[in-house]
Amino acid sequence: RFATLTRQPDDPLLRIIGQHAADPRTNKIDLGVGVFRDEEGRTPVMTAVKAAEARLLTEQPSKSYLGPEGDIGFVRALATLVLGDAVAAERVVGLQTPGGTGALRLAAELLARSGVERIWIGSPSWANHAPLFRQAGVEPAMIPCFDLNTQSFDLDGFLTGLGEAGAGDAVLLHGCCHNPIGIDPDAAGWHAIASRVAERGLLPVVDLAYQGLGDGFDVDAQGARTILAAVPEALLAYSCDKNFGLYRERTGALFAVTPDRDSGATVFSNLLALARANWSMPPDHGAAIVRIILEDESLTAEWREELETMRQRLESLRAALAAGGRIGTIDLAAVAHGKGMFATLPLSPTQVEWLRDRHAIYMAGSGRINIAGFNMAAVQTFHEALRDMVAK
Ligand code: LMR
Repeated sequence: RFATLTRQPDDPLLRIIGQHAADPRTNKIDLGVGVFRDEEGRTPVMTAVKAAEARLLTEQPSKSYLGPEGDIGFVRALATLVLGDAVAAERVVGLQTPGGTGALRLAAELLARSGVERIWIGSPSWANHAPLFRQAGVEPAMIPCFDLNTQSFDLDGFLTGLGEAGAGDAVLLHGCCHNPIGIDPDAAGWHAIASRVAERGLLPVVDLAYQGLGDGFDVDAQGARTILAAVPEALLAYSCDKNFGLYRERTGALFAVTPDRDSGATVFSNLLALARANWSMPPDHGAAIVRIILEDESLTAEWREELETMRQRLESLRAALAAGGRIGTIDLAAVAHGKGMFATLPLSPTQVEWLRDRHAIYMAGSGRINIAGFNMAAVQTFHEALRDMVAK
């Protein structure tokens, strides 16, 4: 049967990890996959995470199974942190998932099971969104809504696109720090989206993967909270990869907002069944770490402080990048409108390739850059490389 398969290309984003590692040039710059880096280019384990791991090592009584819902203490602590008081607690159910991707996959399968056939996605979006929903049987419908030249989000265009959506369709929304553009709606924009979603009877799926890396921990959840408060039913996929630096531990959660406790119990039972059929039970280590941190005031404070330092680093790198001003047709100053880890520059695939070959600068083929991949010196090198590119 395997003879019926066709060879699939490597994932273009993940391929950059290997390409960069194999490049012997010492001045190479990795702006590829979205991981946080410090000024020395390291992705350290956060201090609060190390402390929680130490505690886990000495105190964990057993590694026996927990169940398809994972660590419910983790899910509860996270729910408070993420949802605030946007929705009454009895309207929310949640479970632990393998990373934000596991949460999205479960969301997609729940939608398919609920008869949802289409999900509207502002484009460009994270490269894995459309394939993930399509594979689960929910067809993505893209709404172009970003202008790379001005680094702006076209709210009217997005709302008009949603005007085509039928009742019962879903819509995907990036909670904060849009990946790959870095531009989020402002508060008024979120309210306009929430109204449109509610009036058209759409089911929002909020992907919140960068809380704390944009404007601040609570502010970054405001968009998601505005949406969840406006509708009877919604899903929120959460990732702890970036804000707890847990990447390979695959730590995430899926929350469902339901009209009442009874429908919540039905939704939860379906999520458990889907989880069981997918991975049976999620990996424990990352979720246990997050729970230990969130249940301990001083560890929470330590983690929040470290996260805030990371956020400020992203902000200052973005400002340094924007200070390059206009280089040829590229207006770097506009990058200052964004926040979080990413920006996408108006570069062609040929230019991206040229920057890699000539200047050892690695980024996604779309022109997306991971701002945390810079240090202050690398920002200057990047400006010079762009000047070199436009001069040729
Ligand atoms: C990214 O977009 O770089 C990250 O979210 C990593 C991934 O899984 O694609």
